[in-house]
Amino acid sequence: MTIKTQDEIRSMEKVCRLAAETLQHVAKFVRPGVTTNELDQIVYDYTLSHEAKPAPLNYHGYPKSICTSVNHCICHGVPDDTPLKDGDIVNIDVTTYKYGFHGDTSATVFVGSVSDLAKRITETAENAMYRGIEAIAPHGTTGDIGFAINKYVTRKGFSVVKEIGGHGIGRNFHEDPFVPSFGRKGKGDPLRPWGTITVEPMINENDKDIVEFAIPNSSVKYYETQDRTLSAQFEHTVLITDVGYEILTQI
Ligand code: MF3
Ligand code: CO
Ligand code: CO
Repeated sequence: MTIKTQDEIRSMEKVCRLAAETLQHVAKFVRPGVTTNELDQIVYDYTLSHEAKPAPLNYHGYPKSICTSVNHCICHGVPDDTPLKDGDIVNIDVTTYKYGFHGDTSATVFVGSVSDLAKRITETAENAMYRGIEAIAPHGTTGDIGFAINKYVTRKGFSVVKEIGGHGIGRNFHEDPFVPSFGRKGKGDPLRPWGTITVEPMINENDKDIVEFAIPNSSVKYYETQDRTLSAQFEHTVLITDVGYEILTQI
């Protein structure tokens, strides 16, 4: 985990606010009939008009400016020309680069009116993210975060994805440590004041295997639930302080 100076924290605050504003902006365009490529273009234009860069674009060969993960897609879904349908849920994951730093945030958004199950899994994913964030303490561990997330999600009858999770963030998009959505209190990597991490639990309907797919010309993979049941996710970038934490991608 890289420890930031006061100046670096100010840069992280600014890029994270822009990432949050970008996510809020693009979410307004979600409705039945819109394609994920159109959402991608909206983020590309908005980001460039704010003198920033969409970090995913060309990241390890990734071809787009955002990830759009629809229904049974767990994460890293690649925008395409398929129109969103009434009843879909779509996670939009925005990562903005400016001032030499990255801000990373995502939300699962409803397309039209969705099923009660879709509402429940989405609400569980959002609450799970906040449970994880609330477990952050200046000299705690990544296991504290994972424990809190997994406990909450299991109680709601869903399951967490273990293979993929949060990460350190700063000058690099992905830094140490890995921030799991499961774990044991006091285990894992230490959290340190003035480090920045993401908390981004992926929640599945079922405890079945996940399937990994290649993205052409990229070393980034995308993931789906094996039985094509629903998956939802939320993400914030968080600063660890000397007394607790601050959510940087909250407007
Ligand atoms: N934003 C994703 C995360 O939360 C990473 C996307 S990598 C990409 O870590 F290449 F697919 F953009
Ligand atoms: Co992230
Ligand atoms: Co992200």
